[in-house]
Amino acid sequence: MLELSGIDAFYGRSQALFGMSLSVEAGQVVSLMGRNGMGKTTTIRSIMGLIDARAGEIRFNGQSLTGLPPYRIAQMGLGLVPEGRQIFPNLTVRENLVATARKSTQKTTPGGHWDLQRVYDLFPRLSERQNSMGDQLSGGEQQMLAIGRALMTNPKLLLLDEATEGLAPLIRTEIWSCLTGLKAVGQAILVIDKNVDALTAICDRHFIVEKGHLVWSGNSTELRANPDIQHQYLGI
Ligand SMILES: Nc1ncnc2c1ncn2[C@@H]1O[C@H](COP(=O)(O)OP(=O)(O)OP(=O)(O)O)[C@@H](O)[C@H]1O
Ligand SMILES: [Mg+2]
Repeated sequence: MLELSGIDAFYGRSQALFGMSLSVEAGQVVSLMGRNGMGKTTTIRSIMGLIDARAGEIRFNGQSLTGLPPYRIAQMGLGLVPEGRQIFPNLTVRENLVATARKSTQKTTPGGHWDLQRVYDLFPRLSERQNSMGDQLSGGEQQMLAIGRALMTNPKLLLLDEATEGLAPLIRTEIWSCLTGLKAVGQAILVIDKNVDALTAICDRHFIVEKGHLVWSGNSTELRANPDIQHQYLGI
């Protein structure tokens, strides 16, 4: 469903991605791993049109995303949970959820349509906090809100950039079980995270980036069987 091939991306004159490639098939959960500053967020930014790719091609369900503005890319069914959550601090939980919501065009959303009630069923904590302002939430609540907000766009592909970063262990577990539930209903997910154990448990495929280059890809069995790769590129 998503295919990146040979992407070069730059910040000014400094090149951050060198021929980056990866793909996500319908219904798959796929990880993008690599140490700090290696190009994971930049890859997500390229997909979402937030940074121009100067070479290569990004296709989503057969359509080229090259040159499209971010809002058009989001409308095509890509829902981003950004690094740092970036929820609206001066809107309530409820307002955050509806601000960027989009109705699904019928059977296109995996597992059926997302609305306020379904997000509250997924994260009951958000229902309890629905009238609280964004900046009054704990880190875990903010993260649930960021995921809920992305789901409210009824994405065909959900992209998560470090969704468990800086959270308490119990909240992390809740986020991972939420993602496992989404996978069970057929939601395609591209997830960036540093927890290799959690990723190998849920992901169908892994891509590792090092200094802007794709250096390894494979399934969970292959990654588990390859401690050298984990040591060399993930510092484990
Ligand atoms: N706005 C920016 N301007 C200039 N250089 C940037 C910018 N954002 C990122 N970079 C550089 O691009 C490279 C890739 O950064 P990126 O944010 O994609 O890494 P990352 O893999 O997401 O790291 P992290 O695990 O820390 O989030 C790094 O060398 C970084 O310094
Ligand atoms: Mg990053």
